[in-house]
Amino acid sequence: MALKFELIKVLGKARRGRIYLPHGIVETPTFMPVGTNANVKLMTPKELEEVGAQIILGNAFHLYLKPGMEVLKFHGGINNFIGWHKPVLTDSGGFQVFSLREGRKVTDEGVLIKSPLDGSKHMITPELSMEIQNAINSDIVMAFDYCAEPGIEYDKAVRALELTTKWAERSLKRIRELSDQAIFGIVQGAFFHDLRERSAREITSMEFDGFAIGGLSVGEEYDITLKMTEFTVPFLPENKPRYFMGAGSPKLIVDLVYNGVDIFDSVLPTRVARHGQALTWIGKLNIRAAKFKFDKSPIEETCTCYTCKNFSRSYIRHLFDRREVLGQILLTIHNLHFMMDLSKKIRDSIEEGTFEKLRGEVLKHYD
Ligand code: GUN
Ligand code: ZN
Repeated sequence: MALKFELIKVLGKARRGRIYLPHGIVETPTFMPVGTNANVKLMTPKELEEVGAQIILGNAFHLYLKPGMEVLKFHGGINNFIGWHKPVLTDSGGFQVFSLREGRKVTDEGVLIKSPLDGSKHMITPELSMEIQNAINSDIVMAFDYCAEPGIEYDKAVRALELTTKWAERSLKRIRELSDQAIFGIVQGAFFHDLRERSAREITSMEFDGFAIGGLSVGEEYDITLKMTEFTVPFLPENKPRYFMGAGSPKLIVDLVYNGVDIFDSVLPTRVARHGQALTWIGKLNIRAAKFKFDKSPIEETCTCYTCKNFSRSYIRHLFDRREVLGQILLTIHNLHFMMDLSKKIRDSIEEGTFEKLRGEVLKHYD
């Protein structure tokens, strides 16, 4: 088996776990930095290791367009290609394909889409998604799903759910023909309780190695995201990892962990870093602010990241002022260090029985 999951401690609904994968061990709960184009923007693999990243996320659809399956196969998978030798999870394209609404055509067979790179047409099927993720040789493969847009009507949500279930079956069948890579199923069902339950029952009836909650945090209100998660989690088995797709705000993360989620990912911490926003234990900080012009202190006094140990707010503000890429690099390092530190503190607090207190702290500064 390519994945083994161990539950170390359960505190209320929150879980402290460990996932064993071909390229290493992942302690959960954990945040996964996003590396869409075969790199986590502005981070070398060495820096990723230094901030404590255990697993990064790649994207089947992007990697299929560039560099393409032939190049990935030529390198024997993504790890050697990018110089990152720890675990990788790949998203199936189920999300990217659906965010490209223009010229898209959905049939039972799959999704016909236009490449954002050169306008060429591609038919993405569950089978092709598995073939791509097999060429990538990711530690965890995601089933090909239909992520419905927020506000979708009931009958369209039913169609999305039914396709997601059929595509999950086809994904599982194809990946098993190709390899023993671990694969997660994805629960959809939009914002309808009965459809969430039905999707969860159908997806968990299949032999997946873990389960993801998809179709949330796509623009809906915060309360809906949380309520749908709270409703969905009890339908997922205890003994397998749970992944919420697309969660990066500290507030959402502690609320998801509180509800029993183990893994999350988002471009948010790296994206906001490139716009001058630092995440800290006392909330967000905009480094471009004039008040930092003569501030010799680091982004965060208590932070042990490379940025905070070596550079002042004054200097980083200057780099942003001059539009120097180094400013973005330094904030990306800090923000990812913060996310990994948050993950570690969540894990420790579950083990020590103090997670509620930590959650309260985070909510106080990120509400
Ligand atoms: N990333 C964020 N949400 C989703 C989802 O619903 N499906 C997939 N495949 N990826 C996602
Ligand atoms: Zn720092």
